[in-house]
Amino acid sequence: MISKKLNDALNGQINAELFSSYLYLSMSAWFSNKSLSGFANWMRVQAQEELFHAMKMFDYVNERGGKIVLAAIEKPQNKWDSPLAVLEQVAQHEEHVTKLINDLVNCALDERDHASNIFLQWYVTEQVEEEASVSDVLNKLKLVGKDSAGMFAMDMEMAKRVFTPPAAE
Ligand code: FEO
Repeated sequence: MISKKLNDALNGQINAELFSSYLYLSMSAWFSNKSLSGFANWMRVQAQEELFHAMKMFDYVNERGGKIVLAAIEKPQNKWDSPLAVLEQVAQHEEHVTKLINDLVNCALDERDHASNIFLQWYVTEQVEEEASVSDVLNKLKLVGKDSAGMFAMDMEMAKRVFTPPAAE
C-alpha cells in the first residue's frame, strides 16, 4: 500500500500530466491553423507522450492498491504570438514538470516508500530527455528566425516524429 500523502501527490501528478497533454494538444491545433502541419504533428506526439506518462502513473497507483481520484483538467491556453512563443512555453512547462517530479521523489523518500522511489526514477530520466528534446527544437527555431525557407524545412523535419510507447521499445 502507498501512504495517503503519496497517493494524493500521485493523483496530483496524474492531473498535471493530463493537463500537459491537453496544453500540447491545444498547441498542436494552433500550429495546424497556421498551416505548420509538421509542428502540429510534433506537438501531437508530445501530447500522446504526456498521456502515456499519466496512464503509467494511473496503473502504478492501482497496482499498489491506492485510490485514483481524478480532478478537473484546467483549460489550456489557445493563442500564441509565434511558433517561438509556443516552444518557449513548452520549455518552461517542462522545467516546471521536472520540479513536480523532484517533489514527488522527495515525498516518496519522506514516506520511506522505496518502490515508489524506484518507479519515479523512470520519470526523472524521462524529464532529462524531454528537456533536451524541447531545448533542441527551441534552439533550431531561434537559428531559423524569420527565414521562411528555413521554417519550411524545419516543419518537414518536425513531421517525421512518431509516437512510440516506451514499453514497446
Ligand atoms: Fe510528462 Fe513532459 O513530462
